Amino acid sequence: LSAASLSAFAQNYPARPIQLIIPFAAGGPTDVVARRLAEAMGQNLGVTVVAENKTGAGGTIAADTVARAAPDGYTALIHHTGMSTAPALYKKLRFNPLTDFEYVGQVVDVPMTLVGRKDLPPNNYKELYAYLQANRGKVNLANAGMGAVSQLCGVLFLSRINMMDVTTIPYSGTGPAMTDLQGGQVDLLCDQTTQTTQLIQSGRVKAYGATTKQRLAVLPDLPTLAEQGLDNFEMVVWHGIYLPKGTPKPVVDRLNAALLAGLADPKFKDAMAKLGAIIATPEKASTEGLRTHLKAEVEKWGPVMKAAGVNPE
Ligand code: MLT
Repeated sequence: LSAASLSAFAQNYPARPIQLIIPFAAGGPTDVVARRLAEAMGQNLGVTVVAENKTGAGGTIAADTVARAAPDGYTALIHHTGMSTAPALYKKLRFNPLTDFEYVGQVVDVPMTLVGRKDLPPNNYKELYAYLQANRGKVNLANAGMGAVSQLCGVLFLSRINMMDVTTIPYSGTGPAMTDLQGGQVDLLCDQTTQTTQLIQSGRVKAYGATTKQRLAVLPDLPTLAEQGLDNFEMVVWHGIYLPKGTPKPVVDRLNAALLAGLADPKFKDAMAKLGAIIATPEKASTEGLRTHLKAEVEKWGPVMKAAGVNPE
C-alpha cells in the first residue's frame, strides 16, 4: 500500500467485524477469556469481534492460520503460554512465534490447579501421590494436546514425581476434557482457574492444589502444591493477542487501544477476578510487553522441556 492509501485504510479501520481465533475448544478456559474480551474490545472498536474456535495440534493450527492470514487487522489470535512452548514441542512447526506476528499485547495471567474427578479416592496432594504410586498404570491424566498448558503442567508434574508413564489423554481443549472429568471418564487434569474455580467451589471436581507460590484469593482454602511438599512447582499461564506479520502499525495500535479499553472494562475485570485471572498491567498489555515476554518464554521453555525428557515430535 502507498503511504496515502495506508493512511486511508488505517483511518477507516475497523470497517467490518474482526475475527478473533481461539486455539482450543469452546467452553474451555481460553474460550472464556477470549469471548469476554471480544465483547469488551468490540464495544471500544464499534464493530463485532467474532470469537471463533479453531482447534488442533495443541493450539498450533490456529497460530499457523493467523500467521498466514491477510495482515489487515481483521484476523487476530489469542493464545497463551503455548505460543512459547510450541518450538520445543514440534520439529516441523510451520510458523515462528518470534518472527511471523505483530504483537498487540498481553491479556491476563491465569494460575492453574491440579484437579481430579470428584470420586477419586485421595483427598489431598500427599494422598494423591501415594495413590499414584500404588496404582501405577491405572490412573490417567487428560490434557489438550502437545502445546497446551494442561499438557505442559502435566509433563512438569509427572517428571517431577518420576511418573512419566502415567497415561495421558489428549482432547481438543480442556473444555471437553473437563466434561469427561466431571463424568468420571478421566481421572486428573491440570487446568486454569478460569475453568476450574467454580467447579472446585461447587464440589464438582476434587482439587489437589494450586500451581502458584501463594494461595489463590478466589480459592483461599486450597493449599498450593508447593506447601504440600511439591516444592518449586510454579505455573502461571499468560495470554496474548497476535496479528499476522506486516499488519500496519496504526492498525496494531488501534487494536492495542481496544485491548487496553477492554482490560479496563468493569464487566471484564469483574469476570476475570471471579475466575482468579490477573489483568495485565499496561506495560504487559503493550506490543513490547508481549514481544519481550514471548521471547523470554521461548528461551525458558526449550531447556525445561529437554530436562523433563520431552523430545519434539
Ligand atoms: C483450553 O482453552 O482448552 C486450554 O487453554 C487448553 C490448554 O490446556 O492449554
